[in-house]
Amino acid sequence: MNSNYINRIIEGNCMDLMKHLDKDTIDLTVTSPPYDDLRNYTGYVFPFEQIAQELFRITKPGGVVVWVVADATINASETGTSFRQALYFKEIGFNLHDTMIFRKRNPIPQIYRKRYNNEFEYMFVFSKGIVKTHNPILVDCMHAGLTLIGTTYKNYSKNEQVREKMANPVKDKKIRGNIWEYVVGKKQEDQEAKGHPAPFPCELVRDHILSWTNEGDVVLDPMCGSGTTPKVACELGRQYIGIDISPEYCKMARMRVNIIEGQPRLALGY
Ligand SMILES: C[S@@+](CC[C@H](N)C(=O)[O-])C[C@H]1O[C@@H](n2cnc3c(N)ncnc32)[C@H](O)[C@@H]1O
Repeated sequence: MNSNYINRIIEGNCMDLMKHLDKDTIDLTVTSPPYDDLRNYTGYVFPFEQIAQELFRITKPGGVVVWVVADATINASETGTSFRQALYFKEIGFNLHDTMIFRKRNPIPQIYRKRYNNEFEYMFVFSKGIVKTHNPILVDCMHAGLTLIGTTYKNYSKNEQVREKMANPVKDKKIRGNIWEYVVGKKQEDQEAKGHPAPFPCELVRDHILSWTNEGDVVLDPMCGSGTTPKVACELGRQYIGIDISPEYCKMARMRVNIIEGQPRLALGY
């Protein structure tokens, strides 16, 4: 059944459309729900619990769901919806593999209300069982080449913290941390999504797709808005499925994917 949906942007309620996708077939979902009525999307319905259950059914064993979300502040309190949703994903069988942070390098300035300027969203990474694919992104080591006497090493799974002599000299590269920083809406490749109120930075999606999938894998965004996830999946040689309830956003998503499909893949350099 998935073959009718592969490499397409489909207009409709993801709740109904995901029912047509086969069990255990999606390698990665990268999505962001409409949260806490923060923005007005034309005529959406958002049955969170059913959507989460469908995502569990269609995700492959070892597959991953990246759920990007933040909370509104209502009556002087953050709603906590993001945490409630994360715990619900756990309740229905997902592992909460990692709670990552999407830090905005250019956050929107806020009216001062006795709190610090909000500059991040959560990126909850859920997995169906143990993660099957992780291609870690590496960054430069601050002390590359130096000889250090000792360093602290933490194994969170075993609750261990030991101090011992480590690599000597220090390696050039290490695995990146779980706070990822991006400039929002300013890069050339993000400009195509200007007509949507809350598009992902392409780079954020690219980093997740590279991390959790290999070429040819299937990447879904059931609320794809301007189509950032399908566009980047296509660019990286993954198969994509994009769904959105808004005809206007589906049109924008198709346009963005078409630009990529019209380009020779090798020229992109990924
Ligand atoms: C936060 S936006 C996603 C933006 C997207 N990540 C991007 O890069 O443009 C949420 C999207 O969910 C869509 N939506 C809301 N309810 C939906 C539903 N039940 N089924 C499918 N799409 C829905 C809205 O139209 C909106 O575009």
